[in-house]
Amino acid sequence: MRWTPLTSLALLAPAEALLRFGCSQLVVERLDPLVNPGMNPSAHLHQIIGGNSFNTTMDPEKDMPASSTCTTCQFSEDFSNYWTAVLFFRARNGSFHRVPQRGNAGFEGSDGGMTVYYMADGLADYEQKSKVVAFKKGFRMLIGDAMARSKEEVNRFRQLTYTCLKTFGTRFPETQYLPKEPCAEGIMANIRFPTCWDGKNLDSPDHMSHMSYPASGTFESEGPCPATHPVRTPQLMYETIWDTRPFNDPNEWPEDGSQPFVWSMGDT
Ligand SMILES: *[C@@H]1O[C@H](CO)[C@@H](O)[C@H](O)[C@H]1NC(C)=O
Ligand SMILES: *[C@@H]1O[C@H](CO)[C@@H](O)[C@H](O)[C@H]1NC(C)=O
Repeated sequence: MRWTPLTSLALLAPAEALLRFGCSQLVVERLDPLVNPGMNPSAHLHQIIGGNSFNTTMDPEKDMPASSTCTTCQFSEDFSNYWTAVLFFRARNGSFHRVPQRGNAGFEGSDGGMTVYYMADGLADYEQKSKVVAFKKGFRMLIGDAMARSKEEVNRFRQLTYTCLKTFGTRFPETQYLPKEPCAEGIMANIRFPTCWDGKNLDSPDHMSHMSYPASGTFESEGPCPATHPVRTPQLMYETIWDTRPFNDPNEWPEDGSQPFVWSMGDT
């Protein structure tokens, strides 16, 4: 997939359906009201963006976003919360250092956070004419598994990928594993959520099974939704640029040639 510089997107498609916006950090905290409601601290550290009603517990019945008075997202109407694990660098002496974030293309002035996309079609399709059904109030979902460590497990989440930013504009290739070499401008994490909804449930016990990837292909290739999850939703995607530039000294990388970055849930 080749991406055109995104700053030109608004000029190309002023009235179309693609939303791309920056959200700066709300908080970096061990809280996870979806997976560990009421638990403080939660199992691992997260970076959280969005509405300021974010809390240890967020009862879907209570419509917490409605009690937000501001948001870290560029669109002041968006009181959703979005969060991901946080990346650490493990130095040769065993010490861990939290990797800072940097602003994405078009948001260079920000000190990180995430770029959020809601797409009706593949990103390279500027027309964005496909029909998708909007997420309903109270909708929640999760992608990924904090315990996944093998290639087989990772393949369940085939659209969680990384880009090694050789230059600030590098957008491919994407890999399902963290880059094995130092990346001059940082590592971009690309988190694409499933896009087929069961049409009924706002959430599910594992926070994933009410959603599915397309039965074949991808959202971008207009792959069909499976019969169990027939409703096509927008493609929600997050991009985060982890600023690994301070950690690119080969003398600090593991002597066995492995890569030194590790997610807050312990996943390398
Ligand atoms: C956030 O959670 C704390 C602790 O459970 C509670 O005291 C507080 O009222 C909550 N805030 C909101 C806005 O719900
Ligand atoms: C371990 O290595 C890191 C990275 O070089 C350095 O900042 C830190 O001071 C070192 N800690 C000790 C105890 O040597």
